[in-house]
Parts: sequence; C-alpha cells; structure tokens
Amino acid sequence: MTAQNQQVKSSFQIDSATQNGETIDVLWKDGHKSVYNNLWLMDACRCKQCFQDDTLSVNPGNDPLTMPLSPSSNSVDVEQDGSLKIVWDDPRSDHESIFDSAWLRVHCQSETGRSLARKTWDKTLDMPTFDFNDVVSNDDALFVWLDSIIETGVSIIENAPRNEEAFRELAARVGFLHTRYHPSNVFTLDTTDKIAQKIQHAYKLDRLFYHSDLTAYTDSGVIQLLHCLEYNNSNQEAEGYSIIADGFKLAEVLRKEYPEHYQQLTEEYAPACRRRMVAEEKVLQEGGEALGNVSQNNTIGKYAWESYRLNHVIKLDEWGNPAEVRFNHNTRAPLSMPHDKVKSFYQAYRKFVELLEDQQYTKEFLLKLGQVLICDNGRILHGRTEVGSTLKRKVLGTYVKGESFKSRWRLLLGQKAQMNDFWLTGLSDKALETLANRFV
Ligand SMILES: [Fe+2]
Repeated sequence: MTAQNQQVKSSFQIDSATQNGETIDVLWKDGHKSVYNNLWLMDACRCKQCFQDDTLSVNPGNDPLTMPLSPSSNSVDVEQDGSLKIVWDDPRSDHESIFDSAWLRVHCQSETGRSLARKTWDKTLDMPTFDFNDVVSNDDALFVWLDSIIETGVSIIENAPRNEEAFRELAARVGFLHTRYHPSNVFTLDTTDKIAQKIQHAYKLDRLFYHSDLTAYTDSGVIQLLHCLEYNNSNQEAEGYSIIADGFKLAEVLRKEYPEHYQQLTEEYAPACRRRMVAEEKVLQEGGEALGNVSQNNTIGKYAWESYRLNHVIKLDEWGNPAEVRFNHNTRAPLSMPHDKVKSFYQAYRKFVELLEDQQYTKEFLLKLGQVLICDNGRILHGRTEVGSTLKRKVLGTYVKGESFKSRWRLLLGQKAQMNDFWLTGLSDKALETLANRFV
C-alpha cells in the first residue's frame, strides 16, 4: 500500500495491535501508542462496502445509524505490507477493514494540535526567491515555491517577462484568479493614473500603510501577486518601495507580551466596508454575462458595489492558533460594540499598529523590474513608501483564490505522499504534509 521503493520512517510502522474492549490499541515502532475507537474505525473503513473508490466518497451503505454502537472485532492483525487488518463482528454482514499504517498514524486519536507549523519572521527574513521559468515549467519547483508561501506567506519570483501574459501564466500556476464585483481580475497600479487616484486610496501617492486587501469582502484569504513592469526614478530616493510585515509574527508577539490586547483583537470585531459607485471597465466577453450596466457599444460596463463585513483582526483556527490577519486602516467602519469596550479595543489596536511601526518586524525593499511579489493576503500585511513627483512605477496586480491555491498545494503534496486516492481523500493539511514526509 505504501510506495514500493521507499522505506517509511519507524513512526509509521506498526509494531503490534491489540483489541481492548471498545478500542484497538496500536503500538508503533517509534514507541508511540495510539488508541482508536472501534466506531471511528468502522466508520472510516475504506473497504468496497463502505467506500466508493471511484467517486471517493462514503457508500450510502456505510451508515452510522445502523452501525453497532459497541462494535467488536474477531481479529486484528498486522499484514505483511504493514497495514492493519480488522475482521469485525458485524451483525449486518461479513466485514473486514484494512487500514494503511501511515494513514492510521496521522489519524492518531491521542495526538492533538493539527495546525500547520508556520515559520514566522521579522526583519531578518531571507526572502524566499524563485525563478519564473522554473516554477512555470517544473512541478517540483512549483511545489517548493507553493510550500514556501504556506510556510512564510511571502516570496519573490525573478526573471518574469514584463507583460500581462507572463503574469497570468505565473498566477495560473498558483490557482484560479479571484474575481470580485467587477470583471477585471488583473489590475494595473500606475503612478501616472490620475483617475484611479481619485477612486481608490491605494492608488494615491502618499505612503501606503501596512494593510490586508479585501477586508470588506467575505473571501479575503487570497494570494496576492504584484509584478513590477516599470520603475523609473531620477532622484534615487527609496520611493515606491514595498513594505511588508508578517501578521502571524505580530500575533505571536501580542499573544506572548500583551495577552490582554491579543484577546481583544481575537475576540472583538472590527468592521470593514467598501462602497464604490461607479467603476468603468471592459465587459468580459467570456462567460457572456454583463455584470453591470452596459454601454451602447456593449464593451464598457459601469459597476457598483457595496459591502460590509465584521472581522477579527486576528482570526483563530480550530486549535486556537492565528489563522488569518485582517487589518486595513482605510476600510475601517465604525465599531459595533458596547461603549465600555471601545477603549480597550483601541488600546489593543494601537499596540498592533505600534508593532507595525517597529522596524524590527518589517521589511522594506524595492520590487525590481521583472520581479513578482507574492503575499498570502490572509497573513502578510503589505504597503509601500511614498511616491515622489519624479517616480514612474507600473505594477500589475491580481489575486488567486485561497482555496484554489491550497488545492494546488494539496494535490502536489498528495503526489509526494504516493498513496491511493482513497487514502488521500479527507486528510487535514497537517496530516497530508506528514504523509508526504513519511519516507526515510
Ligand atoms: Fe494592497
């Protein structure tokens, strides 16, 4: 069941397994002991009666409503290939389960804490840097890149041809482009664009403070890509430089040093809003549907949208670890909380901003021609230094759907794990990552 030619680590090899009333206890060759509930094992069974190996979903016949509530086994054996075989005493029919040992280990019910280990960073970050040609043409290089985004939330691609086609090609390697309330899924930040400066604060030329994008929208957990097409500055000042900070690092510092502020930012809501009345954009021909009011020649549409969302500045995952950071000064809406909570919230908010202003936690750098900056918008706060009168800077931007990025990463991890699809189905990120790294 495991890959033919590679040996798995001892922690994934069963030493012995015994029946113990309502559980089966497994002793692993690394000395760890796992206890599996019989009901859980029966429901997780991947035999043909229980699981459809073509659709990769649970068979209707595998019914928790008709399972014996105290299932017992007639025998439990470790097979030659290392998997665990259970012959059930099941009044409904003859029933055998065979479990891949590595799969069982990552589902150990006595081990808790399934968050992915992230490397938080500060100003000392050695920016993960990759080559455009490698990641667009080679899946191994692609995996290393995507994995580094999971780990640090940020990276740079070098040697990208300076055109939109190449930018789209690169983004497509990460996942599907994220479309919002208007058709443009690739936008241009151009310091000479006077119209945009009147519509969107991020296009204005003064310093753009650290922020997350899309805080007013449900789906802000996207991967952001920014591609420098043009940078021309005659006065040699550090203008239009990128600034970034690791939201998870700030959360870590707050949690440790200012727990009362951490509690505020994880428990209280900070509303965000976006109201945009007229954005004129080319109507997308693909898909055929005009999303707004279309002009007579059917090529330019007027788009308007209105959104409001309650966010935690630091959103926690199921295990109480930071899962997402959403912070944007400019899209703040009035707080929605009792009057006696307002002061302590702003104290926490100020501390968060103070940490952002502390150069210990931030990086400032020039995004050079042909470089693409990639940020996990659910984690990294980004911005830029002021743009002076002589600077000409043109940057392409887009977002990739977070779920699509995660899917791409999980598929590549699955390839590394070298297991049948029916074992790969239904694994947490952490379990999948552990399986991909189970070989000696
Ligand atoms: Fe932004």
